[in-house]
Amino acid sequence: MKLNTLAAATLLACLTLGAQAAAPIEPTGRWTANAQGSASLPPMGWNSWNAFFLEVDEEKVLGSARKLVDSGLAKLGYVYVNIDDGWWSHRDTRSGRMVIKTSIFPSARREGKDTSFRPLTDRIHAMGLKAGIYTDIGYHSCGQAFSSNAEFLPKGTQAEKRIGLEGHTDQDIQTYFADWGFDFIKVDACGLSSFAPDSDNVLKKGYTPLAPLIWRGTPNLSNVAAVRGRYQAVADALAKYRPQGDYLLSLCAWGMADVRSWGKEIGNTSRTSDDIMPVWGRMLHNLDSTSKRALYAHPGSWNDPDMLFVGHGDFDQHHLTEARSHFALWAMLNAPLIIGYDLRNAPPALMDIFGNAAIVALNQDAGGHQATLGYDSNDAQIYVKSLADPSKKAVLLLNRGTADLKVTLLAEHLKLDPAQPVTLRNLWTGESSVFTGKSVYQLKAHESLVFEVSGTRLLRNGVYLSEIPGLINVAADGVRQPEIDPVAHRAIQPWEGTLSGGERPLYTGWGGAQVDATPYDQNLQLNGATYRTGIGILDGSRMEVKNDQRYRRFSATVGVVDSTRNMQGSAQFEIYGDGRLLARSKALKFRDAPQQLAVDTAGVKVLELVARPLSRTSDLPVLLGWADAALTDPVK
Ligand code: GLA
Repeated sequence: MKLNTLAAATLLACLTLGAQAAAPIEPTGRWTANAQGSASLPPMGWNSWNAFFLEVDEEKVLGSARKLVDSGLAKLGYVYVNIDDGWWSHRDTRSGRMVIKTSIFPSARREGKDTSFRPLTDRIHAMGLKAGIYTDIGYHSCGQAFSSNAEFLPKGTQAEKRIGLEGHTDQDIQTYFADWGFDFIKVDACGLSSFAPDSDNVLKKGYTPLAPLIWRGTPNLSNVAAVRGRYQAVADALAKYRPQGDYLLSLCAWGMADVRSWGKEIGNTSRTSDDIMPVWGRMLHNLDSTSKRALYAHPGSWNDPDMLFVGHGDFDQHHLTEARSHFALWAMLNAPLIIGYDLRNAPPALMDIFGNAAIVALNQDAGGHQATLGYDSNDAQIYVKSLADPSKKAVLLLNRGTADLKVTLLAEHLKLDPAQPVTLRNLWTGESSVFTGKSVYQLKAHESLVFEVSGTRLLRNGVYLSEIPGLINVAADGVRQPEIDPVAHRAIQPWEGTLSGGERPLYTGWGGAQVDATPYDQNLQLNGATYRTGIGILDGSRMEVKNDQRYRRFSATVGVVDSTRNMQGSAQFEIYGDGRLLARSKALKFRDAPQQLAVDTAGVKVLELVARPLSRTSDLPVLLGWADAALTDPVK
């Protein structure tokens, strides 16, 4: 893309703002994570996009809604029925109101009046379901950006084709939520990225230009504050028109514009990557964009690796191994379980996947802990998920590759005692088994095994922080300059093939807090000693931990990790309980012996773990470890 004058102005604005100011590290004494909207559990339901793309219509939507109810899936929690791109006719330029395409949504037609989705949402609600709508944060949608089939796109003048929220946020949210009765909104972002003044979308297709605020894969040029501000305005409008909080805001900024650092403050779900496609490698790509972000998801705000593609392509009824792996992985990651298949014609084998109550229960577990990686490689992965019931966990063994693979599960992967028996229940077959120490499995290509497990915890009288990501809010992670995560699987982009120079890493988030690893995916090694568990984070950070008066002691071994980028700077670790300083380490730098910290947390609701930069010798971050960090001595 050429750097034209407008884009250069955006760039200048970004440079003037400088790197995003680090969020404050001073303790607040509160849990400050997003509490707006209704997402105490990951949303479940159905969406038209992966099933029909732009060719959505009323019968398709209602048909799938009916099937959710008749099949029993609704009872399992699949309650959202979401209309994606393609529903709009145009914007009425006199009233500013959006007009629905009544040729595909006939019930929206009202003689002598403007169109309304109310009859449709009434029917969806009467079935005991909830209804979702789609929009874009800019002037235009992704369909307008990428489809050339005029039949499915809004028609009219340039102004009439401006169907996104830009300039209409308050009015549209009022229409969609107060008038039409929707419960869920997905807010896409092509309008902020694909309509540069010199783009074909503007020059050839005649759409309204908007100097890009999001540059795909080029975070330095994205205007993070402007993107965030627009999404914040949506959140504010939702709170205004639904003061009871009965709504869900789904951010769709595809891991761009550093949404990893702010999406959780604003949205109830936040996309971590570009679109999933029904191709194994692409599923891995989306999976990887979420799987190292467990500390950025908790009740109220979830990572979203995109909707399910079960039923299509590599995940169709002839590829049930792949379909099961995709589904179980999404369940383990607390991803939204949004079906993208024409349920009216779903074969029983697919319905059985969506309807696996035990696997759905992992996703909907009240603990709200996204699975973390007990073992990671490009070939095999072992995902471990803590459950609300402290005597149980879930584990998923994944063969990512195309050849058979031996995978050995250790009790330690599960943070369970290797000397004690571990009981497993296979959640696809129901079979039970027991092992002590380790258990060996032979996995076919793309196969996964998913078990509920129980055993004796390694830490008998408490929990490691790395076991409870859903109770941790990374209020400030110390990232000064957004960096792109280089480790996500780089699948060939299905819609581009090998026409480009290659698949470049795209999504910022590198350097964010990690469980059981450093922010750059190295071992948590402090002055020569490796720790299997803990939190890796940068200096200039603050984590909030929900204790809710449950545990009476917190302890950790703290220090600068050996792979620190800054080998001169020092940092100080501070622990606060409900805003009160409980302990402070000495100044620690590279190669210093780590320090043990232990504090009394009896009665503490919110614990805060602050890593304060002391001597900053350069802009490079000091990498830190809260090794073996644990809450112990539960209140009986
Ligand atoms: C983007 C989104 C998809 C879908 C399409 C609709 O690509 O990421 O999920 O909503 O737009 O055009």
